[in-house]
Formats: sequence, C-alpha cells, structure tokens
Amino acid sequence: MKISIIGAGNVGGLTAMRLAEAGFGDIVLADIAKGLAQGKAFDLEDAGSILKFNYRIQGTDDIENAKNSDIIIITAGLTRKPGMTREDLLNKNAQILKDVCLKIKKISPQSIVIVATNPLDLMTYLALKITGFKSNKVFGMGISLDTARFANLISQELNIPNTDIEACVIGSHGEGMLPLPRFTTVKGMELNGLLEDEKIKVITKKTVERGLEIVSLLGSGSAYFAPSQAIATIVKIIVKNEKRMIGVSAYLNGEYGIRDISIGVPCRLGKEGIEKIIEFDLNKEERPFFLQTAESIRKNLDLIKPFCHGL
Ligand SMILES: NC(=O)c1ccc[n+]([C@@H]2O[C@H](COP(=O)([O-])OP(=O)(O)OC[C@H]3O[C@@H](n4cnc5c(N)ncnc54)[C@H](O)[C@@H]3O)[C@@H](O)[C@H]2O)c1
Repeated sequence: MKISIIGAGNVGGLTAMRLAEAGFGDIVLADIAKGLAQGKAFDLEDAGSILKFNYRIQGTDDIENAKNSDIIIITAGLTRKPGMTREDLLNKNAQILKDVCLKIKKISPQSIVIVATNPLDLMTYLALKITGFKSNKVFGMGISLDTARFANLISQELNIPNTDIEACVIGSHGEGMLPLPRFTTVKGMELNGLLEDEKIKVITKKTVERGLEIVSLLGSGSAYFAPSQAIATIVKIIVKNEKRMIGVSAYLNGEYGIRDISIGVPCRLGKEGIEKIIEFDLNKEERPFFLQTAESIRKNLDLIKPFCHGL
C-alpha cells in the first residue's frame, strides 16, 4: 500500500504521523515548500525504530514521487488569514487544487483521493471534476470531524464517555452543517429524549462554531489534531476494507433529491472508496435546511467553474 499526502503543513504532517503509527504502508509526504516535507519525513523516520515501523517515509518537494499511490490525501492549501475574504481563499486554494489534481490524474489514475483543503465541499467537487475519476473515489473529510466535535460536546454536557455516543452530522463543512439529534444516540437512546431542545440548540451552535473558536484561540492556523485523526480513520476504513459508515463529502447523483454537488452525507466506505451513500429520512425541519445548504454550495460552484475550463 502506498499512501501519499500532498501538503506537509499542520494537518498533512500530523496525518503522516498517525498513518506511520498505524503502519498501513509506505508514505510519501509532499509539499511545495522546499525542505519542509523532507524535514518532517526525516523526523518521523527517526521515530521508526521506536515505533517498530518498517515502511518507507519519503519527504519531497516533487509531487511526481506520489506516482502509483493507492490513496492520496490533499491537505495542500492556505488556511484563512486575517483580512482574507472567503473568496480570496477559495481562488487561491482552487488554483492549488487544480495544479495538484492535474498531476494526480497523470501519475496515479487508480488512486482514491481524500480532500481536506477548505472550502471542503467545493474543493472536493473541484478535485472530482479535474481528476475525472469515478465519484466513489474522490471525497472529502469534513463532516466526520464535525461529528466528532458534536459527540465531544454531548459527552461533556451529559458527563458520559465519548464511546457511548453515536453522533450524526450532515451538510456542508462550515456554517451549513446540520447536526442531527434525532439520529444521534447514546447507548441506543435518542439524544432528543436525553437533553432538552434548548440544550441541544446550544450544543449544535457550539459544534458549528468550534472550528472558528479554535482558530481564534490558536492565533494562527487552524485545527489539526482532530482533523488528522479524522483523515487517518477514513484511511483505516479503506485500507482494512471495514465497510463502516462515516460521514464524508460525497458527490450526489439524485440521493436526497440532489444532483451534481459534493456535500457531507453518511457513506459506507471500503477498499473501493464510497460503496454506498446512506439516505436518512429527514423530517420537515431537517430537509429544508439540508436542501438550502445544498443550494448555497451550488451557488458557490460558479466561483470554481473557471478552474474547470479547458479540461
Ligand atoms: N476539512 C477539514 O475538516 C479541515 C480541517 C483542518 C484544516 N483544513 C484545511 O486543510 C488545509 C491545510 O491546513 P493546514 O493547517 O495543514 O495548513 P498549513 O498552512 O499548515 O499547510 C498547508 C501546506 O500546503 C502547502 N502547499 C501549498 N500549495 C501547495 C502545492 N501546490 N503543493 C503541495 N503543497 C502545497 C503549503 O506549503 C503548506 O505547507 C487548509 O485549507 C485548511 O483550511 C480542513
């Protein structure tokens, strides 16, 4: 198994560490910044004898080294900086995604591509269009992180262990995320029956704002411990062909009555990537919110269409 990570920053570097610790296969860590990926790879490699890790870790500034990868994780891109509009970020990251995905298409046409770069649902869609790979093979990590955040906040509120909670969040990775208390259970009991509506509303709001809260506390950059863990979990499901259900940004072709966008939904993953998109029976409050989120993603697709010209 060969797994490549494009972007050796906070999320990419830590993902490399988690994958090395799990011992899934050879790792290539690539970054445009000279020396960065190589330095991190050397450091990680030095932990190899402590970890009893026998796979190869290669750091490089040349993405060609990701040739013939089975899985490619894209964490290349900018995080939002003060003074930068969402549109600036989108244009910069779309160009990075385009460059990276054109390369991936050439050097690893069989690979499964997991996108982490923000804005997540748009970048996932762009990666799918630029690679031209089948839609089960290109998806994004975002909603599984949001689900973990929702679960963590529930565990704090109820003072129970995380392991007792099966949380569920769908929608976009951002303001359009939709935590679903009706599909969130604590040892089989619906969250709705365990917490008053007002409490659930507060937790839901905190979940949506969690990423920004972390950004403002860090002072520079954004979250990376939980994001890298969420990526590593997706990789594990694929590598071990676990066929487990997890939320990813997936391309919809009629599911939920939606076509031609990528958005966070629960999926069953296995060695081929997405094996099934799970459709929840949303109620009259949940469905309009989800459709509205899908619509706002669709509107923003116009902003990335220029990057698809000439493909
Ligand atoms: N989906 C999620 O849940 C989630 C969570 C956290 C971060 N993110 C996003 O992931 C991205 C990376 O975050 P980070 O904290 O690691 O940022 P970072 O700034 O630490 O790292 C980004 C790296 O990408 C590299 N890069 C830029 N252009 C490149 C190219 N063309 N080829 C290869 N490498 C390139 C940069 O040199 C940098 O090292 C951001 O867009 C961030 O918003 C997403």
